[in-house]
Amino acid sequence: MSDDTTLVLGATGNTGRRVAARLRLRHAPVRTASRSSPTPFDWFRPADWGQVLRDVTTAYVVPPSVPGPVHDFVARAEAAGVRRLVLLSGRGADDWGDSAFGLDMRSAEDAVRGSTLEWTILRASNFAQNFDGHPFRAPLAAGELALPAGAVPEPFIDLEDVADVAATVLSEPGRHAGRAYELTDATRADLGGGSRADLPGIRAAHRLPARIPGRVHRDAGPGGLERGRGPAPYRDVRAA
Ligand SMILES: NC(=O)c1ccc[n+]([C@@H]2O[C@H](COP(=O)([O-])OP(=O)(O)OC[C@H]3O[C@@H](n4cnc5c(N)ncnc54)[C@H](OP(=O)(O)O)[C@@H]3O)[C@@H](O)[C@H]2O)c1
Repeated sequence: MSDDTTLVLGATGNTGRRVAARLRLRHAPVRTASRSSPTPFDWFRPADWGQVLRDVTTAYVVPPSVPGPVHDFVARAEAAGVRRLVLLSGRGADDWGDSAFGLDMRSAEDAVRGSTLEWTILRASNFAQNFDGHPFRAPLAAGELALPAGAVPEPFIDLEDVADVAATVLSEPGRHAGRAYELTDATRADLGGGSRADLPGIRAAHRLPARIPGRVHRDAGPGGLERGRGPAPYRDVRAA
């Protein structure tokens, strides 16, 4: 590996594998890492991070689901000579206030913002592919999907678009420094407000340009699919 290596964490996951593929198409030296990757990386085994960070210039960071470890990672990255961090976060992360939702992402944002490195934060909307697998498919199939959203049209974004943005930002040093981008799609789906949404409400998702298979909706059966949990922690869409 050259000293221009881009480290991609979460490399077997939704965004990481797509981002790594795009970087390789650009002939960028890439090191993919996760617990099951050839280069093992575990957020809870910091003793092993030295090898992962060696000769890395830029890192794509998919944060863990608990707050904290990204602070240690950033410190180790600084010490290892990493120059840039691109963090995956969630849309509206700065508006979630005292909510318990997204503490993991807010902690990761704090760590990255507090670093001495060049950083960019990508705040993605819900992924359209959530309907295909984790985390929406199982609850949909069981008949109910609980979301922290009320009667608001919700933008979903295709993972391919998230990966396009991430790969572009990772490939353009300097241009996106200190920026937080909200990644949404201009088309929104109203998953239904109030206490329950019925299938027609969910079928509104077909308005999306994303690949949401109808069978997921049919699997859901006639029951309610969405349980409102009060005001949505989202603000209006700002296409990035
Ligand atoms: N779903 C959404 O709509 C949405 C929207 C905006 C933001 N987000 C955020 O996106 C992030 C998830 O990103 P993603 O969807 O690209 O990933 P993902 O598909 O959820 O996969 C998680 C990745 O992290 C790795 N991983 C899991 N546990 C790990 C550990 N202990 N140490 C190191 N690596 C570990 C997994 O690989 P191994 O199993 O091989 O370790 C996998 O590569 C979360 O922070 C989520 O909050 C999600």
